[in-house]
Amino acid sequence: MAACIQKGGTLDLDNIGANHGDTKGAPGRVAAPRPQIARDKVNMTRSEMLDRTPVLEVSALTKSYAAGNWSSRKAITTVHNVDFRIHRGETFGLIGESGSGKSTIARMICMLSDVTSGDVLFNGRNITNLGDKAAFSVRRDMQPIFQDPQSSINPRMKVFNYIAEPARIHGLFKSRAELTDHVHGLLQKVGLAPSAAQRFPHEFSGGQRQRLSIARALSLNPSFIVADEPISALDVSIQAQVLNLLIDLKRELDLTYLFISHDLRIVRHMCDRMAVLYRGVVVETGETQKIFANPQHAYTRLLIDSSPIADPKLERERLARFNIDGLQDLEVSDEQPLRRIDGDHFARV
Ligand SMILES: Nc1ncnc2c1ncn2[C@@H]1O[C@H](COP(=O)(O)OP(=O)(O)OP(=O)(O)O)[C@@H](O)[C@H]1O
Ligand SMILES: [Mg+2]
Repeated sequence: MAACIQKGGTLDLDNIGANHGDTKGAPGRVAAPRPQIARDKVNMTRSEMLDRTPVLEVSALTKSYAAGNWSSRKAITTVHNVDFRIHRGETFGLIGESGSGKSTIARMICMLSDVTSGDVLFNGRNITNLGDKAAFSVRRDMQPIFQDPQSSINPRMKVFNYIAEPARIHGLFKSRAELTDHVHGLLQKVGLAPSAAQRFPHEFSGGQRQRLSIARALSLNPSFIVADEPISALDVSIQAQVLNLLIDLKRELDLTYLFISHDLRIVRHMCDRMAVLYRGVVVETGETQKIFANPQHAYTRLLIDSSPIADPKLERERLARFNIDGLQDLEVSDEQPLRRIDGDHFARV
């Protein structure tokens, strides 16, 4: 389990806030470095979060799969009665080990997978198991970014068509000139030159391909982005650049994020509030800084203890404290209620 929690765990978070241009030796690069983003601007303070309108409300969300053969058919539930709410302008983190159900939740929210039970409300509208036509219009405002840009990009499509496709399907522009301006503008927004439009995805580095998927996700001018492990398939050296890009875009375009990660250090940097998922159950939720200051659930504590610390003395103390065996007896159940700890900090304790 420790390996899952620490997978890709060598990202130097001190680099977040530095130049986000992924400029190394590939086409469409940007020459000028981006200004530094101060670390304290990454997370909104409570007073900054003036708009508390929920963009997304997930309640009692449950997913079951059929398993077994015809003689012993049974349902396996991988997401159990998950509740959370994301306010406008927030970055909300969903964290948990591999297999805890993060992507399953993301797919249900993005209407890419049926909901077994429970509800997803987007801007007040119930989008649970919508038909294709209704889902089409909701997708305009809600877009996913996936972990692996390689698998989500059609290698035979020129970058122009890849980015323009959603806008074309939704009939956003009347003329080719408008569409071209739109695509070029998106490429520049994600730190690539307009000339990148005429190239093929394989001509780009992994980080640049993730920029292309971000540009495509923005093609319909959405207000809500579901980013499912957007940097974990990338080289550690460019992870911080893509995180910075996401931070910049959020501010520039007034976006709201559901940010999914298995790495607590990244969630701490990126997210205003968060939910900790363990075996498909939310075990703790609330403001990120409050959870870090006062973690309540044994699993949250383990996640915090399993994150390496840069300071050698603190790191030694952490390793002495770290005890993965404690998790072996850890049972979680959605039947145990989330208890209010303080404000909107809740935990199943
Ligand atoms: N189509 C499916 N049929 C059966 N089980 C599935 C299916 N899709 C996912 N699962 C199971 O649901 C559980 C949660 O998977 P999910 O992909 O949501 O985890 P995750 O938290 O995103 O993990 P990771 O960090 O590795 O991406 C896993 O046990 C997985 O095997
Ligand atoms: Mg996943």
